[in-house]
Amino acid sequence: MFSVGIVGTGSYVPEEVTTNVDLEKIVDTNDEWITSRTGIRERHFAPKDVPVSELCYQAGLRALEDAKVAPEDVDLVIIATITPDYAFPATACLVADRLGAKNAAAFDLEAGCTGFIYGVATASQFIATGMYKTALVIGGETMSKILNWEDRSTCILFGDGAGAAVLQAVDEGSGFLSFELGSDGSGGPLLKQPAGGSMCPASRETVEKQQHTVHMAGNEVYKFAVRIMGEVAVKVLEKIGLTQADVDILIPHQANIRIVDAAVKRLGISPDKVIVNLDKYGNMSAASIPVALDEAAKEGRLAAGNTIVMVGFGTGLTWGACVLRWTKAGFTA
Ligand code: ACO
Repeated sequence: MFSVGIVGTGSYVPEEVTTNVDLEKIVDTNDEWITSRTGIRERHFAPKDVPVSELCYQAGLRALEDAKVAPEDVDLVIIATITPDYAFPATACLVADRLGAKNAAAFDLEAGCTGFIYGVATASQFIATGMYKTALVIGGETMSKILNWEDRSTCILFGDGAGAAVLQAVDEGSGFLSFELGSDGSGGPLLKQPAGGSMCPASRETVEKQQHTVHMAGNEVYKFAVRIMGEVAVKVLEKIGLTQADVDILIPHQANIRIVDAAVKRLGISPDKVIVNLDKYGNMSAASIPVALDEAAKEGRLAAGNTIVMVGFGTGLTWGACVLRWTKAGFTA
C-alpha cells in the first residue's frame, strides 16, 4: 500500500460579498444577532446564472496548477456537493470535461458538510492500492440556490465557494495517517431539502411551500455538532497513537464559531492552532474545509511535517475526520 498525501490545493469563491447588514434588508435579522450567535460577518454568493460546476472548475484549476499536474494525468475526479448542477449528470463529469481531465473517472459524492473528508478518504483508497496515481477532490457548494430567504434561522448561515486538493502517493510516514468516518441516518430529518427527490418530486405545491430549500432543526444540529467534533477528532488521533497534544493545526468545519469554540475547548487544543474563516464565508458546506486548508497553506500556516487534523459534520447525519502529515512546503501566494 502506498502512503497518500495532498500535493496541491486551490480554492475559489464568487466575487460578490453579502454582509450581515445587506441581509437586514432581506429578512428580519440584524448584524449583532448574526455576529454574536454565529461569528459570521459576510459571505460570498454566486450570481444566479453561475452553477456550482463553475466554482469547482476554478478551484480545481488552481489546485492542478499548484500541484503542477496536467489535466490529462488526473485519473479520478470526485466532487463533494449537496448543490450539484443537476440531479444527473454528475457535476464531477462536467468539471472533468471542462478541465480537460479526459482520462479521469468522475463521480459526485454526497455527505453534506463532511463531503470533503469523505472525498479524500475515498480517493486515497484508489491511490493507496495503486489503482490510480492522481486524484482531484473538490468540495463545492452554491448554498445560495437552496436557501429560503424568508427563514432567518437558516438563510444567514450559508455561503458559496469551492476548495480542491490533488492527491498522489507521498513518502511513507507522511500524508494521510488515519481516517474516521461515520453516519446516523436516524438524524436525517434534522437537516434536509425535503422536495425534489423521489420521496417528494418537484411540483407546483412543493415550490410554493419552499420545500426545495434547507430545512434545519438548528438547536439539535448544534448539540450534535459540538459532541461529534470532539469525539471524532479524539478517535482519529487514537487510531495512530496520537493525542490532542500532537496536533499542530486543526481545521474544523466552519458552521458556527460557537460550535468551533466549544469543540476546541473540549479537545483542549490551543485556539492559535485552529483555522477559522467562517467570519468571511459563512458555512460553505462541503467547501468549508478545503477552502480553509488552501488559505492556511497559501498564508504559510502549514509547515512540512505538521500534523493536521481536519474534522467535519453534516447532513445525513454524517461525520468524519482525518490526520494529515503535511508534505508540501513553500507555497507562495
Ligand atoms: N436574526 C435574529 N433573530 C434570530 C435569527 C436571525 N437570523 N434566527 C433566529 N433568531 C431568533 C429566534 O427566532 C429565537 O427567537 P425567540 O427566542 O424569540 O424564539 C432566538 O433568535 C434564538 O433562536 P435559537 O434558534 O435558539 O438560536 P441559537 O442561538 O440556537 O442559534 C443557530 C441558531 C445559529 C442556527 C444555531 O442553532 C446553529 O448554529 N446550529 C447549527 C447549525 C449548523 O451547523 N448547520 C450546518 C450543518 S452542516 C450541513 O451539512 C449543511
